[in-house]
Amino acid sequence: MTDEKEAIGVIGVGWVGLVTAACFAELGHEVWGRDIVPEKVESLARGEVPIHEPGLPELVTKNAERLHFTTDMGETLEHARLLFVAVDTPPSYSGDADLSRVETVLDELGDSDRHALVMKSTVPVGTGRSIQRRRAGTGYVSNPEFLKEGSAVADFMKPDRVVVGADEGSSGFADRVAALYEPLGARILRTDVASAEMIKLASNAFLATKISFINEIANVSEELGADVLQVAEGMGLDDRIGPKFLRAGIGWGGSCFPKDVQALKQLAGNSGYHFQLLTAVIEVNELQKRRTIGKLQKHLGSLEGKEVALLGVAFKPDTDDIREATSLVLSGRLQGEGAHVRVYDPVAALRANSMLGGARICESALEAVEGADAVVLVTEWPEFGELDWTGDVKSRMRVPLVVDGRNFLDREALVEAGFTYEGIGR
Ligand code: UDX
Repeated sequence: MTDEKEAIGVIGVGWVGLVTAACFAELGHEVWGRDIVPEKVESLARGEVPIHEPGLPELVTKNAERLHFTTDMGETLEHARLLFVAVDTPPSYSGDADLSRVETVLDELGDSDRHALVMKSTVPVGTGRSIQRRRAGTGYVSNPEFLKEGSAVADFMKPDRVVVGADEGSSGFADRVAALYEPLGARILRTDVASAEMIKLASNAFLATKISFINEIANVSEELGADVLQVAEGMGLDDRIGPKFLRAGIGWGGSCFPKDVQALKQLAGNSGYHFQLLTAVIEVNELQKRRTIGKLQKHLGSLEGKEVALLGVAFKPDTDDIREATSLVLSGRLQGEGAHVRVYDPVAALRANSMLGGARICESALEAVEGADAVVLVTEWPEFGELDWTGDVKSRMRVPLVVDGRNFLDREALVEAGFTYEGIGR
């Protein structure tokens, strides 16, 4: 069973779809990646990967023979029987997930019973059940993704677990989907469709809760004189807690956490349940993004006319994704206080240009810190750790003040060199 090669369709070759397509091709399957954006398809067909994801361009090039990119749904349906749906499901104005792109795929599929849908897109719990009601007699499998940006290829190839959800009537298709993942050696959990959908939302909501929790411990630690790094280490040694996702910082962002936490809260609300905990998790994060302002004011007084450098725009390192990035909120708040903002990011600054208001985009970190009254480290890009802080950086700054939003820099060395250092929870 494991050696059998499938012909797979991936509908929507955005970040999730493209990683999925490339990894299945790497596992030896023929893959048809279909997208409605011709420019994207053309560049992929030339072997050019339009997103920043380590290892992905190499995989696309290496497996070019098995990877077919097309805008043509008919071509995809002709070749593939298992159709992985990886179109985006962004929040709508109401806060509910916008399923219009999924609907379009369903329309294009018509009533074909030769194709099974495998839902990779994150959808509200209950979506699969309602699709199955409409497409009675055809296959439907929920197979949520748990990929992290920046390590998506590795996450796909070495997953903690694979979730395959199917209801009565689709177990044959679920077997085929599970078989695709068997070579990866991970635990494959079989569930019903609604539970698979819930596992995805609940996992992200739990991780966001873990971060908001440690961020609040950090804030209290600042008041009480504890060091959150030591606290998190001590907590993480308890097997039941674990060390991961206990890094205090200036807030979580990205394309998944904000959307999925909100979606679960909204979904609960629509069902008549007020999810109190998630309401707090979101609020704590919004406050966390803004706490930096108070830290700067503590040392600089009014921020009117002050020069503030933001190092990092992406919501985390190794990605050019700026969705729900703390940098955007900070840039706006700082300018609201009258500060002049300059930003630098190794890959994401230009993409963010229009969203950073009047912030000046710099070509290098050193350009950004020139004459600055404060530096805020927003994203822990490795290159920021390699800067000559005590020499080059300090000599360029007007005031040697650093807010290290990720507890990333060497506090002792900076303080010894005469910096005023503000971390998170220390
Ligand atoms: C996340 C989930 O991890 C992944 O399983 C899901 O499929 C998509 O959402 P991603 O958005 O790529 O992945 O980012 P992740 O690495 O999980 O980080 C999310 C945010 O939390 C970032 O803003 C990061 O800076 C922040 N974070 C993470 C912390 O502030 N502290 C931590 O300890 C960990």
